[in-house]
Amino acid sequence: MRIIDQRALPDAELTRDLESAESVADAIRQLQVRGAPLIGIAAAMGLVAATRHQRSASRADFVARAQDVAALLGASRPTAVNLRWALARMLRVAEETPGEGSDLWERLRAEATAIWEEDRAMCRRIGEHGLTLLADGANVLTHCNTGALATGGIGTALAPIYLAHEQGRKVHVYVDETRPLLQGSRLTMWELVHAGISCTLITDATAATLMRQAKIDVVLVGADRICANGDFANKIGTYGLAVLARHHGVPFYCAAPWSTVDVALADGDLIPIEQRSPAEVTMIAGRPIAPDQATALNPAFDVTPARYVTGFVTDRGIVQPPFSGES
Ligand code: MRU
Repeated sequence: MRIIDQRALPDAELTRDLESAESVADAIRQLQVRGAPLIGIAAAMGLVAATRHQRSASRADFVARAQDVAALLGASRPTAVNLRWALARMLRVAEETPGEGSDLWERLRAEATAIWEEDRAMCRRIGEHGLTLLADGANVLTHCNTGALATGGIGTALAPIYLAHEQGRKVHVYVDETRPLLQGSRLTMWELVHAGISCTLITDATAATLMRQAKIDVVLVGADRICANGDFANKIGTYGLAVLARHHGVPFYCAAPWSTVDVALADGDLIPIEQRSPAEVTMIAGRPIAPDQATALNPAFDVTPARYVTGFVTDRGIVQPPFSGES
């Protein structure tokens, strides 16, 4: 399994080959691969890579190994439901497929590929539905990275922007830098600049001023988990943008594939929020930006209540909660 190590971007485009369950779990934990849909795909692919030596095993031994690998990968990050969704789907397939280790492994490989291909198609459909929100000349504000680096295709919140650009519509994107790990400045700007899409990097604190100056027509963000009532978790700072957007009368949309919807959770208070190392806040690129003794809080995600969301741009259309049914 070959990944782009996203920690090195935009300085270097490094690829890494991952073969063991531990190396895939580490890559997800350390944000070498990141973004809700992509960590689901990476976990599915990782399960295939990490079980390839069990192909000659008996059915029972293969299933037991797959379950162990899935438990390890599933514990790597808690908030994005796509990770557990993809692993549950892979395990179900292993358990339901007749035959011995080699049959199960081939079936898992096909399933991981299907998860990737389906995500690619969902991104495209999200883009097509979201395109209706972007008039020629629109100014969009986005947060974190929700593009090709975060998914199996053209992204979620960035998908309508890619399609608008493809169709010759002029859109301008304001990109929150997204402290502490700078997914906006390092990754979204990298994608948009490469695609030739007009974009401006801003500090997270600048969003309020741009909205007050009526320079933002629409806010488009992604999601890591959407609850049955429409509350959703996304990168820390999203909730603040939603409140600002409501205050200034700016439409606020959340874009995500159906694999991000977790109907088992009634509301956002039930979403497990990943707490990351304080060192990500007290340092930038390994250099201290706070005194040695400084303590810091570092929740990686926040929860935006459904009432702030104008609509959910999904592969099934632009929809409103409550959500129910199969992912
Ligand atoms: O910590 P990250 O970089 O994995 O966080 C990513 C986000 O919050 C994205 O907005 C979300 O996963 C949607 S990606 C299409």
